[in-house]
Amino acid sequence: MAIYVLLGPPGVGKGTLAEMLCAHFGFLHISTGDILREEVRRGSELGRRAQSFMDSGGLVPDETICAIMASRLQEDEVRRRGCLLDGFPRTLPQAEAFDRLVSQGAPAVERVVLLQAGDELLMQRLTARRVCGACRAVFNVLFTPPRQDGVCDKCGGALEQRGDDTEATARARLRVYGQQTEPLVRFYDQRGLVLRVDASQDKHEVRSQVCAALHLA
Ligand code: AP5
Ligand code: MG
Repeated sequence: MAIYVLLGPPGVGKGTLAEMLCAHFGFLHISTGDILREEVRRGSELGRRAQSFMDSGGLVPDETICAIMASRLQEDEVRRRGCLLDGFPRTLPQAEAFDRLVSQGAPAVERVVLLQAGDELLMQRLTARRVCGACRAVFNVLFTPPRQDGVCDKCGGALEQRGDDTEATARARLRVYGQQTEPLVRFYDQRGLVLRVDASQDKHEVRSQVCAALHLA
């Protein structure tokens, strides 16, 4: 089964698209952001080390991320179910480390889905995002509000704002994306792997364009 990389700036809809595709096609969703946030919640050593980077809008060091992904990518499930990588690789050193893992037997990237939208829309999506503290369902007070203010439609849990979804941290994350992650577009373009998608559209439209281009039915 195929490995797809979801690439794109903060708030563009990587997690939202991944949820939709995984629910329908049974892919494994590996989000480095979700893994790190879970470690922060558990108060683990990794979580404590990662938190200050995440709170400032910067990136967690490459060695830490590559160690996590080296073991995840070797899991049987990745090959068996196919996988959406959401948030990895995020720097050139991470992409090069990924190549080394592939040369040691990990599955290679089939396509890179580049989700694109303008910065002001991204800022709106980020600062209006709310996440259920219990089931992690994602809402947006501007675009997909819950039926009842502050309450999760799915489980009744309380909705929270991510610590890095403040105006200042979101702007910092967009800057870091431009500096450290955008160079990956050229890296994967040189291999002819990049599929560009206008992610400013409705999420169902984004999903159907991606499915058509990847021949997922
Ligand atoms: P991570 O969690 O990966 O954050 P991110 O890349 O900044 O992306 P987001 O999760 O904020 O946005 P998204 O694209 O998933 O958008 P979503 O679908 O939620 O990383 C967090 C931090 O962890 C990093 O800053 C870094 O510190 C660290 N980290 C993670 N990976 C790392 C790595 N590899 N190396 C180093 N450090 C790493 O959508 C956003 C909102 O918009 C939601 O409210 C949603 O409902 C709404 N929405 C989505 N799509 C649409 C649409 N089409 N129309 C209307 N609304 C929409
Ligand atoms: Mg996300």
